[in-house]
Amino acid sequence: MTKKAQPSLPNRMVPYSEAFTAFIPEQWAPYPPDTTEPLAANAHTPIRRQAIQEAFPHDRLVIPAGGYKVRSNDCDFRFRPHSAFAHLTGLGEDLEPDAVLVIEDGDAVLYFHARVPRTDPEFYASAQYGEMWVGPRPTLEEMSRHTNLTVRDSGAMKAALAADLVHPDGQVRVVPGVDPRIDALIVALRGPAPEADRELEVALSEMRMVKDPFEIEQMEAACAATLTGFEAVIADIPEALRRGRGERWVEGIFGLHARHLGNAVGYDTIAAAGEHACTLHWIRNDGQIRDGDLLLLDAGVEVDSLYTADITRTLPVSGRFSPAQRQVYEAVLEAQQAGMDAARPGADFLDVHRAAVRVIATRLFEWGVLPVSVDEALSDEGGQFRRWMVHGTSHHLGIDVHDCAQARYEVYRGGTLEPGMIITVEPGIYLKSTDLMVPEHLRGIGVRIEDDILITEDGCRNLSAAFPRDPDAVEAWMAEVQSR
Ligand code: GLY
Ligand code: MN
Ligand code: MN
Repeated sequence: MTKKAQPSLPNRMVPYSEAFTAFIPEQWAPYPPDTTEPLAANAHTPIRRQAIQEAFPHDRLVIPAGGYKVRSNDCDFRFRPHSAFAHLTGLGEDLEPDAVLVIEDGDAVLYFHARVPRTDPEFYASAQYGEMWVGPRPTLEEMSRHTNLTVRDSGAMKAALAADLVHPDGQVRVVPGVDPRIDALIVALRGPAPEADRELEVALSEMRMVKDPFEIEQMEAACAATLTGFEAVIADIPEALRRGRGERWVEGIFGLHARHLGNAVGYDTIAAAGEHACTLHWIRNDGQIRDGDLLLLDAGVEVDSLYTADITRTLPVSGRFSPAQRQVYEAVLEAQQAGMDAARPGADFLDVHRAAVRVIATRLFEWGVLPVSVDEALSDEGGQFRRWMVHGTSHHLGIDVHDCAQARYEVYRGGTLEPGMIITVEPGIYLKSTDLMVPEHLRGIGVRIEDDILITEDGCRNLSAAFPRDPDAVEAWMAEVQSR
């Protein structure tokens, strides 16, 4: 027999009785002593906060972490803080939904939802904050020790944002579009100021272009964890073939290690076998892996501090490249090496791309694929080579896989490489099976090789150098990993 619901209650909500609310706070052991460790990033975050304050010396800067995003109905995606917030606080993993960092007059205050006593209904009734739902929350003292920041409960935030500015000629700026509640609050207090907010967003993105030593260490750790994931995939290729739907198996094996060694994958894994390798962002990964195919694996572990690797290897499933696969692979490798050779301080960001695509266009011309001269194909008026490599060769890499994405054109694509920048070098050639301009024996072959490159004082260092690149070395690597 169906009971009629009380009309005011959501369909799955069971009301809490008075007896329950009186009973639930009783007889809990005290919380264990605080064992919170300071974040390793704490040596660097004050310098970053100072840099952004210096860019806007009189202003109150509001940097929200963001809130939960609905996956469906009352289920949210796992929380990930906004990258500017993570960069300025050092908080990674799933910390800290609805928090806000406010910087003004050289001081930074972190507002967050601190632990409430178990007498508060939040303890059992809040699926987002309740201890019974998501575990115990940090206290103000714990968060302060963790981040070395001044911290206040988020209940105090509204009044702090509404308070008079320290500098009368200053203004409030917020990173827009991160937390709609904060956007609305600031607009109500100050009125809309999209230009001012945009300037803050751009400056925060640009200040991440040159990495500090801690960030470089985190990127090295991300690359090392990613190597573990790639080797686990290589070891399990026979299993992926045996089970069928091998691309999903590969995605899962990599994801296991990403979650185990780090926070997550830094972006959806591309596990593209055979023809799928010609689809640049193939993340559906529902295909078979067949003996004789290439497997293009583009994957990166994001460590707990949220820095991510972004590495691609194109692997012969059988352990040996066919002559046609090797021909394409060697051209991409040569292009990548040319790109890496161009990656040094003082070079244009675009020099890396120019060097790589000159090799790509030259090889395509020699194979009879490119129907115009190399120079015409490389000209702004031409660009025909892009039919076989439509993407760029490089992007900045860090907390975001496509890091610093809000930076201005003149400091990013039109900018100059500097020591401390980390970029990818990732040329590819993608010869679709449906492309009638491609000789038949090369159709259906897609190859990308992607490494993570730190610009140094005198050139560059490959942070993913532990991943073999040369085709003979790749074959030897696969044989060695599969014989372990
Ligand atoms: N994995 C995405 C990219 O390489 O940019
Ligand atoms: Mn990339
Ligand atoms: Mn990639």
